[in-house]
Amino acid sequence: MNKQTQTVLNYHNRTKHQLERYAKGPESLDWEDQPDQFRHFSGCDIVTLPKPGAELEPLFTDLDNPQSIVPMPLDMGSAGLLLELAFGLSAWKQFGPSRWALRCNPSSGNLHPTEAYLLSTGYDFIKSGVYHYVSHDHSLEQRCRFPDNFPDSGILISLSSVHWREAWKYGKRAFRYCQHDIGHALGALRYAAATLGWSVKLLAEWSDEDIAKLLGLDREDFKQQEHESPDIICRINTHADSKPLDTKALIEAAQSGAWFGKADSLRAYHMYKWPIIDEVSTAASKPQTEEPERQAVRQQAIESSCTKTATEIIRQRRSAQQFDGKMSPLPQTDFYRILAAILPTTAAFELWRWPPKIHLFIFVHRVEGLAPGIYALPRHNDALEKLQAATLADFDWQKVSEEIPLYHLLSGDCKQIAKTLSCHQPIASDSAFSLAMVAEFGEPIEAAPWLYRHLFWECGLIGQTLYLEAEAAGIRGTGIGCYFDDSVHETLGIKDDKFQSLYHFTVGKPLEDKRIETLSAYGHLNDVV
Ligand SMILES: Cc1cc2nc3c(=O)[nH]c(=O)nc-3n(C[C@H](O)[C@H](O)[C@H](O)COP(=O)(O)O)c2cc1C
Repeated sequence: MNKQTQTVLNYHNRTKHQLERYAKGPESLDWEDQPDQFRHFSGCDIVTLPKPGAELEPLFTDLDNPQSIVPMPLDMGSAGLLLELAFGLSAWKQFGPSRWALRCNPSSGNLHPTEAYLLSTGYDFIKSGVYHYVSHDHSLEQRCRFPDNFPDSGILISLSSVHWREAWKYGKRAFRYCQHDIGHALGALRYAAATLGWSVKLLAEWSDEDIAKLLGLDREDFKQQEHESPDIICRINTHADSKPLDTKALIEAAQSGAWFGKADSLRAYHMYKWPIIDEVSTAASKPQTEEPERQAVRQQAIESSCTKTATEIIRQRRSAQQFDGKMSPLPQTDFYRILAAILPTTAAFELWRWPPKIHLFIFVHRVEGLAPGIYALPRHNDALEKLQAATLADFDWQKVSEEIPLYHLLSGDCKQIAKTLSCHQPIASDSAFSLAMVAEFGEPIEAAPWLYRHLFWECGLIGQTLYLEAEAAGIRGTGIGCYFDDSVHETLGIKDDKFQSLYHFTVGKPLEDKRIETLSAYGHLNDVV
């Protein structure tokens, strides 16, 4: 086993929450000193995007067949909408003197370590160069202007993470959450693009080093401890006849371009240091690789009764803080529709270029026509036998649906166990169902340590789909990053690292906290826009 793989596995094991002890985090938090959630680069030209909040016609269910949506022309308005629907603010919340923003993409602890960049290669609507998106102001900061002769090949979106923002609250485990958040952001980008009639191509061949060069993350402008780690670069296909992209020329354009501005400090006092995060980040950094093209085999989605537009669903997405434990059972068709939406044969997963490695173990609490108990949803046929071999011999693996690969494993009330496993959080037991996302783990990471990050991204992508599908079904979801890793494995009978649980999720009927006021997402810009 090489050193990088060892470092990654060591990180994973040391950041497991145990029933008797949580992974190490800060002993105290000063909320007055929280790292700034909105990064600014001072000294850049600012491009104000058109007023956010535009409604588009496509229904949420139209996104099942995105080719039926007429593509919007690429201009300042549509590029702004893409950014808003993916990473923009969706509301402000107020409770007493506390006020906090929510965004279209969720984030563990609402800390938002993900930063988004728009890269323009043409001159149609904005000068070619690198732009940092400031969701608070719905504006772009121009970081780099490319030399004038760059060939026009549309726009790209790239994502990075400020690990410190998350580590400030969660300590060692934060690197995991940053990766989940990247997966959610990628999912949010896909849904936003599909709403505009566009699609997302994950440029998975790129090395992290090249992404850093393109975004200027390797420049002196960054404060050492608040640096951004490169994660993802995507091409946005806005027209069927997109011109080819010369990636080498793109990096050269960034290197020979004119750079502006300097990353402002995020201001929090760095009382605790988490060197293990830098170690795992280095060990899991990605070189340039060759990656497969995905041969998409799309299956028909299960019918939904949702009549809302995609923009409505995207902007109303929230995490439930509490669920109604007395809800009437979730209609079975809604349950099946939600689960079918996370299968790799749906439009939402076309951008994911690899066979699925994440499978679900579901704690069914309140679903019409299904006995409460534990169920499994292998997301790939090839995984079925491996999962059967790796889990408890008592599981009966009875297929219960014609429409989706859902298997009954064990009957019984598992509310208490679901709650205990998810760090004693009632959201895992008061819902209609909660679940563990279990990854094919040891083998891929031995082959390539950076796949550790991919596994979390795939979980986040599934999570984002669950969030939106739950809204479309008139209920609500919540991501759960806090769970007792090895207790989940024991419950399922998993004995080694062939499989590991990497994320939990829960879906049910939300209970609103009436004391918390909801304010409009961009009301604060009214005087300015
Ligand atoms: C990776 C991840 C892990 C999360 N873990 C938990 C959790 O363990 N418990 C919880 O109540 N909420 C959890 N959440 C929900 C976040 O707290 C929520 O996304 C954040 O407060 C922003 O609110 P919003 O989703 O309504 O925009 C998680 C979200 C993500 C994306």
